[in-house]
Amino acid sequence: MDVIIQKIHQLTPTIRAFELVSANGSTLPAFEAGAHIDVHLKNGLTRQYSLSNCCSERHRYVIGVLHDANSRGGSRCIHNEYHEGDHLHIGEPRNLFEIQPQTKQAILFAGGIGITPILSMAYRLKSARIPFELHYFVRSHDMIAFYGNLTEHFNGQVHFHIQDQPGTGCDMSQVLEQSPADKHLYVCGPTGFMEFVISSALQAGWLAEQLHQEHFVAQIADTSTNETFTIEVKGSNRQIEVSAHQTATQALIEHGFDVPISCEQGICGTCITRVVDGIPDHRDVFMTDEEHALNNQFTPCCSRAKSGKLVIEL
Ligand code: FES
Repeated sequence: MDVIIQKIHQLTPTIRAFELVSANGSTLPAFEAGAHIDVHLKNGLTRQYSLSNCCSERHRYVIGVLHDANSRGGSRCIHNEYHEGDHLHIGEPRNLFEIQPQTKQAILFAGGIGITPILSMAYRLKSARIPFELHYFVRSHDMIAFYGNLTEHFNGQVHFHIQDQPGTGCDMSQVLEQSPADKHLYVCGPTGFMEFVISSALQAGWLAEQLHQEHFVAQIADTSTNETFTIEVKGSNRQIEVSAHQTATQALIEHGFDVPISCEQGICGTCITRVVDGIPDHRDVFMTDEEHALNNQFTPCCSRAKSGKLVIEL
């Protein structure tokens, strides 16, 4: 979809919100809280950004983008090279972080830029009259993104935990004390933060099925058991060996095949390739469990093979 950046808001020294509207003036496809869009940048990269606004809005999408000091080119490009009025190419919203239908009460945790999907969830929970509380962890007060929205709409439900502000710490054992089966926990933020929240909840007696996290940063895959496998590109009559220490995309590119890649972590779906024979060992978080079970496509940037050979179509 072609959209226009209608407004850019500097939310914190490093986070900007981009308000996107349809380029042809039509309403935008509906989305659910927790959804994200792929943003296809002018430098050729594709990045995923959560939608932060209320999902009842059809006239705009709002994304929050952190200017990451360790940027591999995505956030730097969007911060430096896009301005109000510019066009942007995006994909339709996809949701890997939905509010589970059985949620009757909720606790939301956000760390830093992780507030982006959590804010949309807060709007949704409020409109569905589902009781919730939101715990937002930041380094300092000026790092709080969407502060105005949070205090205006969720006063009393939002708790700010500010690292350099004494007295704002979070007593996790108290916050996580109650875990009835219909209460669900949603967390988004840096990997270490999410691990901390999830392990604290498990220790406090929560069940794994009550805990949900966003996957924008891929979990470190265990590669110690990787084995060599073979890929045949249908129609080429060529057998390509993928050794234990390389990815399928690396092997394919080395042999002169063209495979589009972006995140190289199984998050964006750019590299998805059709599988016509063999069983992939899926390691991405892009496809759903149902899509994985079909075994008719895989993400060669990170996934491997359970069968000794995969036949793919490029
Ligand atoms: Fe993003 Fe493979 S390049 S999923």
